[in-house]
Amino acid sequence: MFIVALKCSPNKPRLAGKVGVVKIHVADHPLLKHKLTVLRDEKTNSPTFRQLTEEIVTLLAYEATREVRTEKISVKTPVATTQGEILAKPKPVVVPILRAGLGMLEGMTRLIPTAEVGFLGMIRDHDTLQPSTYANRLPDDLTGRQCYILDPMLATGGTLIAAMKYLIEKGARDITAITILAAPEGIAAVEKAFEGSDFPITIVTGALDEKLNEKGYIVPGLGDAGDRLYGVV
Ligand code: URA
Repeated sequence: MFIVALKCSPNKPRLAGKVGVVKIHVADHPLLKHKLTVLRDEKTNSPTFRQLTEEIVTLLAYEATREVRTEKISVKTPVATTQGEILAKPKPVVVPILRAGLGMLEGMTRLIPTAEVGFLGMIRDHDTLQPSTYANRLPDDLTGRQCYILDPMLATGGTLIAAMKYLIEKGARDITAITILAAPEGIAAVEKAFEGSDFPITIVTGALDEKLNEKGYIVPGLGDAGDRLYGVV
């Protein structure tokens, strides 16, 4: 994995990298670090965890939507007419991966309230770590749509790769995944899966953690994101 530091503020670098067609942005901001640290804390309860998740996703979404398409329009202010920009049509599609991705939806739609929302229900088997789809509600045709997948934990990459392939089958060619944490193994798996693709894939994450443990959990991570958001059900 090749990651370089890009300057995005006078004080702090934003980490970004590009390998083949997969672009990786590790957002870097003191407020994000603060919120992530509280999120990781095992003593943080579900209501606080949900609130923090939303806030973190709004910060990540700001980074992730830097290339969202806009169109020019003229707007009349109380003083003069000027040129402005608004979100182009068709509107972006946001796809939370159930269940944990649902906890990220509010934070995303706060930034893009007019986005369409599709749903993809995926679960990974605790033993094999293989993902399977149990529900979906998405437009049939995603040609020309900018798609933003929400999944808090990029661990083995299996779920995210399956979700991306699903969107690609429906015509999507502009896909950004927003994750709260990512493991190097997951990023490597996504890179391998889409090696040689002729369109870019972007991953925006809050932090790149150290590794996966033998159970496929991100280390140091934050535990099971779904359980921490919604309890063990
Ligand atoms: N899914 C989670 O919720 N946590 C991990 O650490 C890995 C996958």
